[in-house]
Amino acid sequence: MASTTLPLASAASAMCNSKPRTWFSGSSNVGHMFRKERNGPLSGTLSTGRITMAVAVNVSRFESIPMAPPDPILGVSEAFKADTNSAKLNLGVGAYRTEELQPYVLNVVKKAENLMLERGENKEYLPIEGLAAFNKVTAELLFGADNPVVQQGKVATIQGLSGTGSLRLAGAFIERYFPGAKVLISSPSWGNHKNIFNDSRVPWSEYRYYDPKTVGLDFDGMISDLKEAPEGSFILLHGCAHNPTGIDPTPEQWEKIADVIQEKNHIPFFDVAYQVSTFLARINFLILELESEMCYRVLLVEALMQMPLLVRLFTARGMELFVAQSYSKNLAARVRSQLKRLARPMYSNPPIHGARIVANVVGDPVLFNEWKEEMELMAGRIKNVRQKLFDSLSAKDKSGKDWSFILRQIGMFSFTGLNKAQSDNMTDKWHVYMTKDGRISLAGLSLAKCEYLADAIIDSFHNVS
Ligand SMILES: Cc1ncc(COP(=O)(O)O)c(C=O)c1O
Repeated sequence: MASTTLPLASAASAMCNSKPRTWFSGSSNVGHMFRKERNGPLSGTLSTGRITMAVAVNVSRFESIPMAPPDPILGVSEAFKADTNSAKLNLGVGAYRTEELQPYVLNVVKKAENLMLERGENKEYLPIEGLAAFNKVTAELLFGADNPVVQQGKVATIQGLSGTGSLRLAGAFIERYFPGAKVLISSPSWGNHKNIFNDSRVPWSEYRYYDPKTVGLDFDGMISDLKEAPEGSFILLHGCAHNPTGIDPTPEQWEKIADVIQEKNHIPFFDVAYQVSTFLARINFLILELESEMCYRVLLVEALMQMPLLVRLFTARGMELFVAQSYSKNLAARVRSQLKRLARPMYSNPPIHGARIVANVVGDPVLFNEWKEEMELMAGRIKNVRQKLFDSLSAKDKSGKDWSFILRQIGMFSFTGLNKAQSDNMTDKWHVYMTKDGRISLAGLSLAKCEYLADAIIDSFHNVS
């Protein structure tokens, strides 16, 4: 209780510009407040028995706070819940669902949890940097255990609070140690990226990424914006299965992107949230699944949230990823120490449960194999609905429109190319819930619903402008 009331008290103190005081922590403080209020508008109306009322009246000083708009992604789920139509479909949130459209907890996760119970593992505080076994397997998974950057101790790994918390910690790190440096974010990108860097007080701008004419990558625009960016900028790149477009550069394009980043002395900053297209991709897909369940994530400092193929591409060039590779091994220790310093007042230390599950699954060859099998099933289901959606659209739409971009996109999402009015029609008329940028999560789609969705898309695309 104390920890929830104290911040409220200090926020209120700051707002009314009076001396800091603690409101709810004991009778002497309450008395102090009461004495103070006797000279205020409530003078003479209070008795000691009504002190709680005085607190409630003080809270009205928050009246000037405006109502915040609903979150563009999580707000979609709230609207979906409120809809009573039986045809409704939630394609808003990027979380895996079964063919019955139910959330799925991996069997290996259940097995790892049972193991933890059997072993009687405790729930003690972790160190600030998180569970050592989790950090080790994560760095090895992402970079490859044989990667010289791992072997030479050049990777500083911190277990953060899921992807968002890791990005936020990275934002705090950039703000403190690279003052004035800009982060470049793809246009479009996951909606929370801008919020995170705004709250971190890190300046950002966008680089071109999506070309609406081709529903593909605006590669020339991207390259030209990376060239134009101030030297030494942080370039935020989606490691795999770009959110929201599902459009990734080809290996050749990645090489050219790496050329420009190297020429301009930029620092690549990888955010890897979805990986379903390759074997290695599936590994992180599991991590994503665990994240939503267990709220954990990893922050890699020399390569923030990297994926192996890209890590190899960039590290093979001898490039600095987040910090200079030419620095000594001590650098990772120094960076880690500063990250710990940032994390301590932010959230103190990360939760243990999810990290133990990951360490148990990835560290055990039998569970690791089972994990890969489950990943194959999950990735396969998404691939099947992607194909069926494409088939249904192609069969039903007689206009000759080419829907093959859906098959070229990868990961959980499809960027349909529908504009805001068309996306509104999807929801208002067809009860299909999706983000207003035209993104649909195929993980929330079943084979049984593909034809219905195709009808909704065709109607919205052709009859709404
Ligand atoms: C590109 C990207 N980065 C980061 C995140 C945040 O991940 P988490 O939900 O683990 O905080 C997401 C989640 O949707 C995402 O799409």
